[in-house]
Amino acid sequence: MSGERAPAVRSIASVKGMRDLLPPETAVWAAVEATARRIFGRYGYGEIRTPILEETELFVRGVGEATDIVGKEMFSFPDKKGKSLTLRPENTAPVARAFVEHNLRERALPLKLFYIGPQFRYERPQRGRYRQFYQIGAELLGDPGPACDGELLVMLACFLRALEFPQLLVLLNTVGDEASRAAYRAALRAYLAPHRNELGEDSRRRLDTNPLRILDTKVPAERELLAGAPALADFLSAECRAHFAAVCAILDRFGVPYRVEPRLVRGLDYYTRTVFEITAGGLGAQDAVVGGGRYDRLISDLGGPEVPAIGFAIGQDRLLDVCPESFRRRALPPPPVFVAPVGGVPVEEALAVAEELRASDVPALAELQPSSLKAALRRADRLGARRVVLLGPDELAAGELTIKDLASAAQERLPRSEALARLAREKEAEPGRGAPAAPGEQETARLARDDKETV
Ligand code: HAM
Repeated sequence: MSGERAPAVRSIASVKGMRDLLPPETAVWAAVEATARRIFGRYGYGEIRTPILEETELFVRGVGEATDIVGKEMFSFPDKKGKSLTLRPENTAPVARAFVEHNLRERALPLKLFYIGPQFRYERPQRGRYRQFYQIGAELLGDPGPACDGELLVMLACFLRALEFPQLLVLLNTVGDEASRAAYRAALRAYLAPHRNELGEDSRRRLDTNPLRILDTKVPAERELLAGAPALADFLSAECRAHFAAVCAILDRFGVPYRVEPRLVRGLDYYTRTVFEITAGGLGAQDAVVGGGRYDRLISDLGGPEVPAIGFAIGQDRLLDVCPESFRRRALPPPPVFVAPVGGVPVEEALAVAEELRASDVPALAELQPSSLKAALRRADRLGARRVVLLGPDELAAGELTIKDLASAAQERLPRSEALARLAREKEAEPGRGAPAAPGEQETARLARDDKETV
């Protein structure tokens, strides 16, 4: 002993607001993603993967300079040549950029794209709010009609039902076109201007930059003040009204539950006409799980052609938070079979049994260190195994295996092929099979059919 103490080594934690996702929870994430791929695929959506970094200007122009996202929440930094880059805070502007860049207008329209991936916003972390979070989103580009809005929401409902999402309700509104909104902005400003001093700092700033955003204030005094404000609905053009009515009719027909929320405005500037959100109980303050809407001007604002579009993004972190136990159970992988060599049988023999099980799609773990039977059984239990295969010198000589049930301690010795076949059959009967289909999944189709029968 030299008497000197080694310097304490600082351990490094993940960056604030960014977290590790660990197994077995990642299996539930993967099952949610597999369900999205399966259901979106049925509606003709193909996957797009855009870079995580974009030029900052894309979001400034796309999402809007006056929004919270661009004003205070972007992770932006200069690259080595001094150009400002931003970790994407959302994926709609990148999809619109890719649409223009690759001239995707030349493909059959509407083009249907979906994405799954991390987004970054420099927000104050709290439950359900992270600086790196994940979105599952879908964008339908190239069709202005209300049937697109309707079909997109029907697909979203089908997906959420497949996850057994509790109390599905779409909060729906229209923010009209640019002309209706300009007229409404002027009326709202005129109404609020005499009350400027009663507004909080945020709303005062918004009165100048983006008065519509004041509508979703959470401040009680401001909400009271807004009760007497002019309504956006009174400023809508006849076309916008007809569009909204047609969307509602489709949701009625296909049994998608919704409630019109006249004060719903979204926090991103690119929306026109239909906007929507889905919230979930039990999430606390951050209860918005889905946000979306039509953005008929975004692509031309980014220098592309006039291409109307609509889409949504689901916050996957929050979705996972409300994912019911029944879905989780089915998403988790089946318990592994544990193969233990005993009585001096070489570990390679256990490996060979495990390999045979894996070849029939049975998850198997082999004891890779020679150890006592007691230690092997303890490890099997900690690893969540329900069955252990014991392979001793007698079994090896006779071409047999012993299957032990850990819960009851009952065991049975069988010819090797019979034992392997039995374990494969037992695995088939397990509820956890990867990407589960839920009973609710067929619901929209059934409702639409029933609806038709009653017409
Ligand atoms: P958004 O409403 O900003 O819309 O985000 C969509 C969802 O992402 C939110 O409802 C929420 O669940 C989740 N989310 C947002 N910020 C965070 C955060 N810091 N932590 C955890 N989850 C979060 C958009 O991003 C639009 N691009 C949606 C869209 C697609 N509109 C048209 N197409």
